[in-house]
Amino acid sequence: MIIKASSKDYEVTVNNNFDVIEKLQIDKDTYVVIDKKLYNIYVERLFNKIPKDQFYIFESIEENKTIESALQICEIMTNIPAKRNAKLISFGGGIVQDVTGFVANVLYRGIHWTFYPTTLLAACDSCIGGKTSLNYKKFKNLLGTFYPPDQIQICTPFFKSLSEKDFESGLGEVVKFNVMYGEKGIKKVEENINLLLARDEKTLEEFVYNSLAFKKAFIEQDEFDRGIRIHLNYAHTFGHAFETMSNYVIPHGTAVAMGMIVANRISLKRGWLKESIVNRIENVIWKIIHVDIQSIPMNMDVIMAAIRKDKKQTSTDLTAVLMKPDMSLLVVHDVKTSEIKTAITYLFDNLRRK
Ligand SMILES: NC(=O)c1ccc[n+]([C@@H]2O[C@H](COP(=O)([O-])OP(=O)(O)OC[C@H]3O[C@@H](n4cnc5c(N)ncnc54)[C@H](O)[C@@H]3O)[C@@H](O)[C@H]2O)c1
Ligand SMILES: [Zn+2]
Repeated sequence: MIIKASSKDYEVTVNNNFDVIEKLQIDKDTYVVIDKKLYNIYVERLFNKIPKDQFYIFESIEENKTIESALQICEIMTNIPAKRNAKLISFGGGIVQDVTGFVANVLYRGIHWTFYPTTLLAACDSCIGGKTSLNYKKFKNLLGTFYPPDQIQICTPFFKSLSEKDFESGLGEVVKFNVMYGEKGIKKVEENINLLLARDEKTLEEFVYNSLAFKKAFIEQDEFDRGIRIHLNYAHTFGHAFETMSNYVIPHGTAVAMGMIVANRISLKRGWLKESIVNRIENVIWKIIHVDIQSIPMNMDVIMAAIRKDKKQTSTDLTAVLMKPDMSLLVVHDVKTSEIKTAITYLFDNLRRK
């Protein structure tokens, strides 16, 4: 699949094996960044031929998604003989993507970059769209640029080794794309959810490809997130709040799935969505989220404050992307605190019962 961007068109390939990695030639102008867990799992199989001084092992925790980490990689890469022609290859999830994308963008004002998304979340969603983000102090994703990779290689066997928590987080985004697609998407995900949960390779391959194809239409129309791309924020206004409030114990995609429940319950109360549709979506979501809310300080005031801090908020009433009766999405600027609180209470009550 080719993604069109103003700086360059770039290709995403979905592979059902590791051939492309096994054939990789690491020349003297290439530097490789690898997620630490991934490295430990696959070192013998995939990474033991990379020369010792040409790779960096990155621990993917939010605390490391910083400008300091990016600068450290930039500095090490000054040892690569090529300058603007240096090549960066990175393997990992969204955290590795965000840091290495930033490095590839700023080092010598832009170097070659190939990204191998190894989490389901990065593969089905974040790898395209060109956003790079770094956390600064307590501000999540405060710093960032737009810089897509030259090439994206997805190898679906990587999903086999993901923890249950990280795998389910990726499914949150997969389900979100299908829900955004409308009734047909919901039906498709209902029919396939058990295969997805069993990590069936063919099914995953198909859903990853379709998720990217769905996102492609939005990012190509609105590369720099000034218009229609805001629809991709569906469920995220609430999701981001759950993520931050739990100090990232609830991972991104799971928080988005929870955010979908909140958004849809608001639509239901407004008479915009049919109860049968809302219930069908929730029946799928309950299968993919396992959140121990007893262990997380779910304080309504803290969550409301977090929602208000979201960068898309501008007034007393809140802005959110909600679903209309025909299942199209609408940016709504008059969401009341009381509507959100009722929907979140519903979500928490149900999570407590699970
Ligand atoms: N740039 C964007 O457009 C964009 C979009 C969405 C999210 N994000 C960012 O992405 C991050 C979340 O991404 P993520 O969910 O991929 O998380 P992640 O990068 O933190 O990876 C999750 C965990 O999976 C491990 N891992 C990675 N690949 C593995 C594999 N194949 N087998 C076993 N373990 C593996 C990692 O070590 C980590 O512990 C957040 O920081 C979020 O802000 C960025
Ligand atoms: Zn997301």
